[in-house]
Amino acid sequence: NTDSIVPPKGFESRTPPYAKLLKNLAVAKRVLNNQPLTLAEKILYSHLVEPEELAVGKGSTANIRGVEYFKLNPDRVAMQDASAQMALLQFMTCGMPNTAVPGSIHCDHLIVGKDGAKSDLKSSIATNKEVFDFLQSCGEKYGIQFWGPGSGIIHQIVLENFSVPGLMMLGTDSHTPNAGGLGAIAIGVGGADAVDALTGTPWELKAPKILGVKLTGQLSGWSSPKDIITHLAGLLTVRGGTGFIVEYFGEGVKSLSCTGMATICNMGAEIGATTSTFPMQDAHYRYLKATNRAPIADLARDVNKNFGFMTADEGAQYDQVVEIDLNTLEPSVNGPFTPDLSTPISKLSETTKENKWPQNITAGLIGSCTNSSYQDMSRAVSIMKQAEKAGLKPKIPFFVTPGSEQIRATIERDGLIETFEKNGAIVLANACGPCIGQWDRGANAPKDTNVIFTSFNRNFRARNDGNRNTMNFLTSPDIVTAMIYSGDMNFNPLTQSIKLQNGDEFKFQPPAGEELPNNGFIAGREEFYPELEPVPVPEVQVEVSPDSDRLQLLEPFEAWDGKELSTTLLLKVEGKCTTDHISAAGAWLKYKGHLENISNNTLIGAQNKETGEVNTAYDLDGTSYGIPELMIKWKNEHRPWIVVAEHNYGEGSAREHAALSPRFLGGKAILVKSFARIHETNLKKQGMLPLTFADEADYDKLSAGDKLETTNLIDMLEKGGDNGGIINIKVTKRTGETFEVPCKHTMSKDQVEFFKAGSAINYIGRLKRE
Ligand code: F3S
Repeated sequence: NTDSIVPPKGFESRTPPYAKLLKNLAVAKRVLNNQPLTLAEKILYSHLVEPEELAVGKGSTANIRGVEYFKLNPDRVAMQDASAQMALLQFMTCGMPNTAVPGSIHCDHLIVGKDGAKSDLKSSIATNKEVFDFLQSCGEKYGIQFWGPGSGIIHQIVLENFSVPGLMMLGTDSHTPNAGGLGAIAIGVGGADAVDALTGTPWELKAPKILGVKLTGQLSGWSSPKDIITHLAGLLTVRGGTGFIVEYFGEGVKSLSCTGMATICNMGAEIGATTSTFPMQDAHYRYLKATNRAPIADLARDVNKNFGFMTADEGAQYDQVVEIDLNTLEPSVNGPFTPDLSTPISKLSETTKENKWPQNITAGLIGSCTNSSYQDMSRAVSIMKQAEKAGLKPKIPFFVTPGSEQIRATIERDGLIETFEKNGAIVLANACGPCIGQWDRGANAPKDTNVIFTSFNRNFRARNDGNRNTMNFLTSPDIVTAMIYSGDMNFNPLTQSIKLQNGDEFKFQPPAGEELPNNGFIAGREEFYPELEPVPVPEVQVEVSPDSDRLQLLEPFEAWDGKELSTTLLLKVEGKCTTDHISAAGAWLKYKGHLENISNNTLIGAQNKETGEVNTAYDLDGTSYGIPELMIKWKNEHRPWIVVAEHNYGEGSAREHAALSPRFLGGKAILVKSFARIHETNLKKQGMLPLTFADEADYDKLSAGDKLETTNLIDMLEKGGDNGGIINIKVTKRTGETFEVPCKHTMSKDQVEFFKAGSAINYIGRLKRE
């Protein structure tokens, strides 16, 4: 009987509605004749709006995965400051008095890392005051928790406060899957998707396939959870997880801490996975208790024991299985410029020479949302203490970013910060800082090619210090910390020693750390903690000045004109084109709430296939322009445009500006060899038409300036999309030659309505008003 399962008192908004979820799951199981289900399927099916409609007549889950579209009711939403601005500006256009599900806002991305927490925080608050005030007033008005600047990084705070086994949540950040480390299904989305959940509109997701990762053996010595995911990224590549949820299982899971599992799920984003998750473990129970949620821990454990809700069924089928033996797993170093270029530490010296990478390392950075747990920090300190005892000093600058005030205060109490600082480390604010281009390296910042080692999750060009030539190698905090003492790519701390001044040889012993603090966590500064159950205050005025260059109220995009699309090819993009190429971060982050200003960065990182130039496109008369400048020119001339690109276009993040800006600047469609999932959805939400070549070879036939016209778009829209099909494009070359290029679309019935209305927000707003 599920009726007796009620959320513990005082924890209502933080407990998944287990009774309802179990009922939904029972219905879905009945529809599927009690087939064994994976964990991910159980959580997704239990959040279906209409479980009785689950792919009626499809018979088997194999016929659902990768084919059907789900309509889901997520339990909560988290938003980081950079993306929350646009999410909330869009939410405001719907005219609702409060959000339909609990939400939280986290001020983390806009804080620069430079000299240390105190001064950095002060100057970042001053620079971003207008935006933080806007977010805070939205929080008060609509009853959304506001975690102010300095309180911590979104994913760490979610793990400490909101993630629970069986929960389903959305977050406006691509590393939202971090919460899967605590057994949730947590998916990174754009602001428009977050608005679905915030308005109580069913959120649509193409049924993912399920990739099982079986962990055998157990971690020991230098190997850490980070190495599981960096190794997996090397095996699967940045596209290997596209369309999949990654579900971990096997004996090896038992040797992982909850925060270690979060690191692994966090970086599932680097292989393009929809999300990643772990079955409920004792480590989850321990972590929930340690983070002041004992009643939720007890309830979740009972629900799992009695209903097996947070564990895969015996005999559940995966679409693909990868096995990793933790007994033989070696630390990896991934990079530069892509997270899937994985080199085992034992081969790093050799690979460095082969690739002619610089041998000197210029900085080490640990922490971020990926690796700032108590375990990570205590292991790093254990390495630092060994070096200190031997009289060694770091050879290069070293930075530590705690993930939250709770972590910072706890490691301060336990003397870890003292060890870091005594050994020359700079402890930055509890914020993203160097992980998102908010790293000021000062007057001596290297301008040329240089190597940094980080325990972050992403290493695209210019991601950390804005320098396209900074080579970021991703690895565990243990390896980063050891490497700062040699500053040399040829050093393998597992096997080699460092010569001391007295001539002795010093060799590191494997790191040792604690999963959780022996004396429990402490909260730290109270001012960083919002009310847990905020009540909306409708009288609060949300101010947006018309003169602001940081914030701008949104004008709805125009609705579809009822005609076939007629576009001109503005740019043919070559090679990798991530959301960082399409909508650069760093200094541009400050315009996230101002669509017109931020659109001046559109595709400035993209390489022109026809000329090899970056941020260069050519008008029809041959005049060269920066890419956004030409887009603005064509917008003003009423010349709708299309961009053509290669594989995994939009890889990397949930950044919806990568869809909003092209739409704002007059783009109608993007045609590529393949899309990253979140970006394709974001384009649809903003009323753009994402298409993929039916035959990749057609990419070679197209040139900038070609006219591309759809011939059966009206027909497709009238039929309601059908979740996929062919859109034919008539190409007219500037020579007058014409030919047809068949392209694939994946538009669902709802997405067709978004396109017709001009955007998802236009459509939802209309529904809410009707
Ligand atoms: Fe922030 Fe970097 Fe994580 S930007 S949310 S610390 S991936």
